[in-house]
Amino acid sequence: MSPSSGNGCILLHKKKYMKNNNERQLNIKINNNLSGLLILILCGIILAFSLSSLSTYLKINDNDLSNEINDKQEKRKFALLPKENDLTIIDDSTIGLPLEINDNNYNFDNNENDETTVSEAITSLQLALEMKHCGKQKKAIKLFQHAVALAPQHPDVLNHYGEFLEHTQNDIIRANEYYVRALTYEPNHESAMVNRQRTARVVEELDKRMLNRIDEKRNALTAIPDNNAALNRAKKEAYFQHIYHTVGIEGNTMNLAQTRSIVETRTAVAGKSIDEHNEIIGLDAALKYINATLVNRIGSITLKDIMEIHRRVLGHVDPIEGGHLRRTQVYVGGHIPPGPGDIHFLMEEFASWLNSDRAIRMHPVRYAALAHYKLVHIHPFSDGNGRTSRLLMNAILMQAGYPPVIIHKQHRHKYYEYLQLANSGDVRPFIRFIAECTEQTLDLFLWATTEFSKEVPALSQNSIIKDRHHHHRTIVLDIEGSGDFLDD
Ligand SMILES: *[C@@H]1O[C@H](CO)[C@@H](O)[C@H](O)[C@H]1NC(C)=O
Repeated sequence: MSPSSGNGCILLHKKKYMKNNNERQLNIKINNNLSGLLILILCGIILAFSLSSLSTYLKINDNDLSNEINDKQEKRKFALLPKENDLTIIDDSTIGLPLEINDNNYNFDNNENDETTVSEAITSLQLALEMKHCGKQKKAIKLFQHAVALAPQHPDVLNHYGEFLEHTQNDIIRANEYYVRALTYEPNHESAMVNRQRTARVVEELDKRMLNRIDEKRNALTAIPDNNAALNRAKKEAYFQHIYHTVGIEGNTMNLAQTRSIVETRTAVAGKSIDEHNEIIGLDAALKYINATLVNRIGSITLKDIMEIHRRVLGHVDPIEGGHLRRTQVYVGGHIPPGPGDIHFLMEEFASWLNSDRAIRMHPVRYAALAHYKLVHIHPFSDGNGRTSRLLMNAILMQAGYPPVIIHKQHRHKYYEYLQLANSGDVRPFIRFIAECTEQTLDLFLWATTEFSKEVPALSQNSIIKDRHHHHRTIVLDIEGSGDFLDD
């Protein structure tokens, strides 16, 4: 902003100087002849015109500046999807076949907490603690993980693993997650309570820093001009990747090149099912719908919008269910979503939360992640809940100027694990996961357009590459002063 308003000032001075000069010259001429008068009038018009356009120009700059300071919402919208023409769409005839509904996406191993596995877990825990004591960290990690896998609800196992992560791995965020988990199963666990309290402030600060870093990167992205060729290539690439990963998470076997060719040319890939094609076409349609309707609307996402998104997600695969709430009970791994009779009410409640002040005032990443979690928890549709939730999340992020976030299909186990953790009481790991995905997506764009990211000091390659551990160390020292949290 400042360089351009600086130019404006210089221009203004120049104009004033020119004006004075012109007037002096004209004053001499006016005495001489009539054509001088004509020239004077012409120059007057030109001057008035150029000054007025200059002042509008300055006014625009002023507005930009104050908007940036005062109101995030009013910020110049970053066009988030590639140009429609770039994707060369051929109109398709939309005949879909009903999809066999299989909701095996959230299948977790149901660990039975019977006595033998618990005692095996305790044995493993004791061995882990011995290894920790001897400084054999790699062995300790394996044994701790084994214990957690055997008894994922055992408060001592969870608490000790947390302490190990905090003191030897310096991973305070994950340590805190384990303390909180221990407390969900035993709210009065003394050691876990002390541990949670001690780490709470550091964790909050780390979360805040992560969101600030994400904001900086978003601002850097917004600063890149829309006509930047590398940016447009990156947008296009991200568009295909987004579709590829989001249908891939649900089991679609199309690879990136195939996904791309279906969106671009609408030609079939040999050996792949019609449904797999239709899932991709549906996602493409839903993204374009969001881009055309929701992205530039400030606030207010209605129930109807969510139904419209879902209608496109499923429309090509299952036109009957697309855009409708489910009418049957479903079971999703360990989670039993609300019965069909409650869904309508819960969805209305959800929509009013979506538009509540409390939600809108949150950091967009937090808001978007929570919206995703809440929708997938209600599980309002017979199929396509995951895709619709991710699209809703991205609609919220795009409204706030972020590109659509990609959740990589190879991270789906973590993704489901965090969703399940949210079900059992701690939604922060899921929000952090979404924040990490947001940051990775932003990095993708910024790396693709590196010449611009260099202009922002906070985004020098170093700070992007710096890993989580490094951040921990710095912040711990900031807050605690001593080496309390450090390895000894
Ligand atoms: C997204 O919307 C913008 C205008 O807001 C438009 O220029 C662009 O073509 C759209 N992209 C897609 C893929 O629909």
